[in-house]
Amino acid sequence: MIQLPGLIDPHVHLREPGATHKEDFDSGTSAALAGGVTIVLAMPNTKPPIFDADTLDLALNAAKQKARCDYGQYVGAGPDNSDWTSHKAESDRAAGLKMYLDSTFGELRLDDMTLWSPHFANWPKDLPIVAHSESRSMAAAILFAAIHDRPVHIAHISLKEEVLLIRAAKERGIKVTCEVCPHHLFLSKDDIPAISHGHPGRGEVRPRLATKEDVDALWKNMDVIDCFATDHAPHTISEKDSDNPPPGFPGLETFLPLILTAVQDGRLTMDDVIAKMHTNTKRIFKLPEQPETWVEVDENAQYEIKASEQFTRCNWTPFEGWKVRGRVRKVVLRGKTAFEDGKILAELGYGKNIRFFN
Ligand code: NCD
Ligand code: ZN
Repeated sequence: MIQLPGLIDPHVHLREPGATHKEDFDSGTSAALAGGVTIVLAMPNTKPPIFDADTLDLALNAAKQKARCDYGQYVGAGPDNSDWTSHKAESDRAAGLKMYLDSTFGELRLDDMTLWSPHFANWPKDLPIVAHSESRSMAAAILFAAIHDRPVHIAHISLKEEVLLIRAAKERGIKVTCEVCPHHLFLSKDDIPAISHGHPGRGEVRPRLATKEDVDALWKNMDVIDCFATDHAPHTISEKDSDNPPPGFPGLETFLPLILTAVQDGRLTMDDVIAKMHTNTKRIFKLPEQPETWVEVDENAQYEIKASEQFTRCNWTPFEGWKVRGRVRKVVLRGKTAFEDGKILAELGYGKNIRFFN
């Protein structure tokens, strides 16, 4: 049995408000605990998106009622809400500012760079900005961070050109950090047929699964990667198999077993696991210490991943049938057993907002 600190996932989509048939603060934080995760930071692309005081209240009230592990809630950078987001009372209750810089994202899409500037200028420098920016728009986001002399965290990097750019930016002293998701480390576009089972929508995720060369480059440049994050993006199996499949993979419950299997295979060390799933994430996102919190893992337990055993409401996983090693046995959160042997023991509402911790 090994003991790990409470794991932190800085990138999850919990679908509340607006799409609780896919997930909500109850099912999503249950999935987190089952995966050994004790803090989740929830993304703002809900329905409605979290981009003003009323919508932030909506999400925070739902979380307060239902979250079983600790949590934070991002606010979304919209075309004209930088005056609101940067209000101290509002930024103080947010996990960070999420900027969707280049993908189609309805109300939260920032189409042109003049819309980026107020956010980079006004958001408090000591709080995180997380950018969804792929390839060249990532280069632009890093340039904005340099111009404004402030940190930026790049979400879900997936390409060789991205990891090499971030290495170069870090070497120049630019304050950039990044995360990578297990699905971009363990899957490439060559795996799409196997994931799909005849339903091409199941292989859809943003950023898209990349080439084998990109995957190899992420592994080779592991020292550049600050954090692991799931981008847990649950959509039901019927939505994934429909004519208009939404992109996204669930990931909370497969997060640690996949990473620990890589440790067993000699591709990562336990120090990497603790740094990238706890210590670095806590530092970058300015998260509080969770007292009396740990995760007990049977590192030798071998088992097969099965969606039917998961707590996420979406009821599928791209890793169905994968044989992994390392099972979470017990999670102790702030002195209470929150998960043990497959059972969620933390009550609804036990989770605390990481910005109002004491
Ligand atoms: C995300 C989702 O479903 O909310 N999907 C995904 O593939 N990562 C949205 C997104 O981040 O683009
Ligand atoms: Zn995401």
